[in-house]
Amino acid sequence: MQGYQPTVLRNKAISGISAIDTYIANGGYEGLKAALTMTPEEVGKVVSDSGLRGRGGAGFPTGRKWSFLPPQNTNPRPRYLCVNADESEPGTFHDRELIEQNPHQAIEGILITCYATNIARAFIYIRGEMKRGAVMLEQAIAEARAHGFIGDNILGSGYGVEIVVHRGAGAYICGEESALLESLEGKRGYPRLRPPFPAVSGLYASPTVINNIGTLAHVPPIVRHGADWFKQFGTAKTPGPMIYSISGHIERPGNYETPGGYTMNQLIALAGGVRGGRKLKAFIPGGSSAAILPADQADLVMDFDSCTAAGSMLGSSAVIVMDETTCMVGAALRMSEFYREESCGKCTPCREGTYWLVQILERLEHGEGRMEDIDLVASVATNIAGKSFCLLGDSAAPCIVSGIKHWRAEYEAHVTQHGCPFRQH
Ligand SMILES: Cc1cc2nc3c(=O)[nH]c(=O)nc-3n(C[C@H](O)[C@H](O)[C@H](O)COP(=O)(O)O)c2cc1C
Ligand code: SF4
Repeated sequence: MQGYQPTVLRNKAISGISAIDTYIANGGYEGLKAALTMTPEEVGKVVSDSGLRGRGGAGFPTGRKWSFLPPQNTNPRPRYLCVNADESEPGTFHDRELIEQNPHQAIEGILITCYATNIARAFIYIRGEMKRGAVMLEQAIAEARAHGFIGDNILGSGYGVEIVVHRGAGAYICGEESALLESLEGKRGYPRLRPPFPAVSGLYASPTVINNIGTLAHVPPIVRHGADWFKQFGTAKTPGPMIYSISGHIERPGNYETPGGYTMNQLIALAGGVRGGRKLKAFIPGGSSAAILPADQADLVMDFDSCTAAGSMLGSSAVIVMDETTCMVGAALRMSEFYREESCGKCTPCREGTYWLVQILERLEHGEGRMEDIDLVASVATNIAGKSFCLLGDSAAPCIVSGIKHWRAEYEAHVTQHGCPFRQH
């Protein structure tokens, strides 16, 4: 980490980079200029070669996603870029810092992506609560337009792009890409049946690329410095720097951009250690949708494949730290309440299942549980996962299933002690 200069959260090193003059004075929009001297295919190839994987949750290779757009001679409809800035996964807050502190890098990434994919209109779907972020983006777009980076004939290249900021209304489901498209079209944010996939039939039934805003902020330095430069960071299968939102029982919660390849132990040290010098009990590598891992796995390398191999996932790289005072039933209850609230209600397993998860966990936590409730709640969770219409349903299960797997004795203690052993009765 020593000597590492952030490449995305550059605001950490350069104050005032949210202003366009400071951004330009520090190499801003050089990636766009470099891209415009290349063909769109060449830009797409650099991004593919870099191995950049989506930072929105699934870790899908970005260049490959762009390549799924059908050739324009087979589908002449206009193409769209939808930029996912909904950022609602509990524990995740790095997109917000990017948007508020280094918005031009996000805009530059969007412009290069549009050029590489022959797209003339991009929509940024921003979480409704992030009002300041929406204002910052609007301001950055106006500044970029005044400098000739947005609009018709960008920098005399003959290529033109418009960017529209659209504020959501605060529903977690609208971060799911197909619900986002519905919402953007003015409809209720219900997920869509796939296929067809958005690359073929997305926004207004047109070919559409959907990327996380943080993913796209990696594109300018990749185009500027090349794929090999990017691959010097990170691990073989998760190349590039990695930004983690670290929260929970930690001394210095916040966003940390690392050169990648860090272990959980290293991240804890980076953020000042476990709060109050207490012992680590557990951690979640990638937001509330990922399985909880016990402290003895904290030497885990925090990249996509290592987290999956460990039985969890890197997801949106939202690291939640839990110290020895954490009640695993209480934590599962809190997360289940979130999924119950955010279930869109379209399909039965998720709508009804998340309700029952909360009912059962509540009685366990409050001393009214029975021993058989432990297997019952696990069974309800596993009957939601894989049987729901979209991934929100799947996301409700891991906190419970992993909790019971690793801390079953703690669940049992809630029954035998008629309540939470972590609380005074
Ligand atoms: C319930 C749910 C919520 C999601 N919320 C977000 C979000 O807030 N931001 C985001 O970028 N991706 C979110 N995703 C993932 C998106 O569906 C999509 O995979 C992502 O935006 C693709 O971008 P990427 O390839 O750049 O990672 C969510 C997925 C699910 C199932
Ligand atoms: S899984 Fe949940 S959020 Fe997804 S469609 Fe079904 S009810 Fe809606």
